[in-house]
Amino acid sequence: MKAILLAGGQGTRLRPLTIHTPKPIVPIFNRPFLHYQLDLLKQVPEIDEVILSLSYQPRRIEEIFGDGSALNIKIRYVVEPVPLGTAGAVKYAGADLIEPIVVFNGDVLTQIDLAAVIRLHRARNARATIVLTPVENPTAYGLVETDPEGNVRRFVEKPRADQVTTNHINAGIYVLEPDTFGRIPSDVPWSIERSYFPSLIERNETFIAYIYDGYWIDIGTPEKYTRVHRDIMDGRYVTAPFLDLPAPRTSVAADARIEDGATVEGPCFIDQGVLIKAGARIGRYSVIGRQTRVDEDASIDGAILWPNCRVSREASVRDAILGRNCHLGRNVSVDGGAVLGDETTLTDYTRA
Ligand code: GDD
Ligand code: MG
Repeated sequence: MKAILLAGGQGTRLRPLTIHTPKPIVPIFNRPFLHYQLDLLKQVPEIDEVILSLSYQPRRIEEIFGDGSALNIKIRYVVEPVPLGTAGAVKYAGADLIEPIVVFNGDVLTQIDLAAVIRLHRARNARATIVLTPVENPTAYGLVETDPEGNVRRFVEKPRADQVTTNHINAGIYVLEPDTFGRIPSDVPWSIERSYFPSLIERNETFIAYIYDGYWIDIGTPEKYTRVHRDIMDGRYVTAPFLDLPAPRTSVAADARIEDGATVEGPCFIDQGVLIKAGARIGRYSVIGRQTRVDEDASIDGAILWPNCRVSREASVRDAILGRNCHLGRNVSVDGGAVLGDETTLTDYTRA
């Protein structure tokens, strides 16, 4: 059985982080995001190949995962000539398949039991199976109504507030039968959510739901990107590098240097080659990427710093995200919600 990962979106809501780093490989702690999805797919012995469906900056992604042999999973790449939309991408990548396919949005992190979803799909002899998960506000997602037998009755992508009739949304995980792809045109972008699913409902095909209420998040906005790090540090989603760490999970790489007189409060993550100078303070929920340097009396709180940043003396960074190679001068203060793109330089005493 094959799995298609839809990983061709531009990640617009995560800009500027995604200008040089496509969303599927933004780091979650020290690993590109797709690693976490591949870990999940590897747990299903039946899945013998993963097809990465790409269109935005595909080379950057291929360079990281190669043919998958280092990860013990077979990976193939399909690069669209132009973005074909979610349905067009599935058809383009899965054109010659005949068996059911697992399809995954390339930006969701979850601990779902995929084998159970596949079992349900087979047991009900479904043409399509969709995973649903409850959320507080469905307006940013695809809302899905089902009947008591678990058949999908209505699909509304990005519903307005007055269209919200359930808190169940599309989790971006499907099992699909390729013989239903005939209705997807080959030459224009086509949406799985707005066109393909509604067409299954219209034609009364067996389109069923699998309800999942365990851990699930879409990492596609700065708030959710920050949330996913906090959830992992809180032990809500268990994975490396926090696998065997007791609370408060403080993960410090063996070769990181924390000078005497610096303070580190867990939970937090300090990666390889980091230098924390005397008097600096690393507060809770901070993530300090590889080779980053935090100078004397600087303080970091709840912020995510990608590799090779420098935070100069007495600077303070709170609840912000810094891309790679950012340089903050002395006494700079960066606050709530700021997202700095790669290579940002802030002059001494800047407030942002
Ligand atoms: N190959 C390819 N080509 N991939 C694409 C394309 C395309 O043209 N367009 C989007 N994708 C990929 C994105 O990279 C992402 O992994 C996935 O498809 C979904 O696109 P998003 O842009 O992240 O959609 P969304 O988050 O607004 O909504 C989708 O996900 C929600 C769950 O997170 C929908 O599927 C909603 O119904 C769903 O609730
Ligand atoms: Mg998304």
